[in-house]
Amino acid sequence: MTYLERAAGRPRKDTPVILGIESSCDETAAAVIRGRELLSSVILSSAPEQAKYGGVVPEIASRAHTEAIGEAVERAVREAGIGDEAPDAVAVTYGAGLLGALLVGLSFAKAYAFALGVPLIGVDHIRGHMAAAYLADPALEPPFVTLLASGGHTAVIYTKSYTEFEIMGSTRDDAAGEAFDKAARVLGLPYPGGPNIEKLAREGKAVIPFPKMFAGGGYDFSYSGLKTPVINYCHGKEQKGEAYSRADVAASFQSAACGVLAARAVAAAKEKGADTVVAGGGVIANGYLRALLAEECARAGLRLVLPEKKFCTDNAAMIAAEGLIQYRAGNFSDLSLNACAHIPLGKKGKQ
Ligand code: KG4
Ligand code: ZN
Repeated sequence: MTYLERAAGRPRKDTPVILGIESSCDETAAAVIRGRELLSSVILSSAPEQAKYGGVVPEIASRAHTEAIGEAVERAVREAGIGDEAPDAVAVTYGAGLLGALLVGLSFAKAYAFALGVPLIGVDHIRGHMAAAYLADPALEPPFVTLLASGGHTAVIYTKSYTEFEIMGSTRDDAAGEAFDKAARVLGLPYPGGPNIEKLAREGKAVIPFPKMFAGGGYDFSYSGLKTPVINYCHGKEQKGEAYSRADVAASFQSAACGVLAARAVAAAKEKGADTVVAGGGVIANGYLRALLAEECARAGLRLVLPEKKFCTDNAAMIAAEGLIQYRAGNFSDLSLNACAHIPLGKKGKQ
């Protein structure tokens, strides 16, 4: 009998204990859930080290993961308070992300699952971001509209069931997070750009008329249509030797970037007759966007489910949450599961 046959043949529990592992970028994370209850979450970040280079250096990320993965998992299992009880499955991000970084978490997860003889579940990182809301509200059930805004993806998705999705619109060029990072660079702010724009924006006013609605009908986004006016504004002022407020640029950019996200999520929910909007991804950690979503959903009579900020940016609790969905569907991975740098939205990577 192969490992997969043995692991998949184990009796399935209603509320399994799942260990989640995430290492796709610069966060080494491990978390334990029981059913939809979060028992522990550990996030060890190499971001301060990466900040010296102005962005994520893949080689540094891989090495940092190698050093941190053991501690992250040990702590997550200890802090979960499950005593000698072993996890019923190990869920791990297999893509998208940096290959070397992914391989550290993936190899560790394989060894862990193999040693325990429990199923290994390969999780698409983006599905993880989308599943974070299930931990925020353990009673949440599809259908609903999901707003996804991370460093690599921006999309409005109709979540029909736990495993069926309709992509209503997505970015045609840059992702929202990428736009935050690029705008931050123009303003001379350090990595990571998003939180630093948010901080600077608090000191400014959204008075510069950057485009509020970007090119592209339907629910598509074009963040490059916002990035270029921001760059032109700053460079234009600099060339003319005119003073300008960086804080106002940050606030105006943030207002435009977030306005379109909130507007499209609400419109999509109305079109689908959904009563709930759910959000996930690093940009959803933005306080201005969270307040705007709350305001617009309330005005439209929609329920809003937002993961806590620390579960919007990369974490392993969301990987465990998606692992639970796959566990219930009986989607287990073989030990040949490989890392995948790109997984198109709505598609499966090579498994
Ligand atoms: O989801 P995430 O942690 O990683 C990916 O899967 O991409 O998203 C990272 C992105 C970065 O572009 C970062 O600048 C952005 O999320 N981000 C933010 C904030 N925190 C992180 N953007 C705006 N405001 C924030 N507070
Ligand atoms: Zn992410």
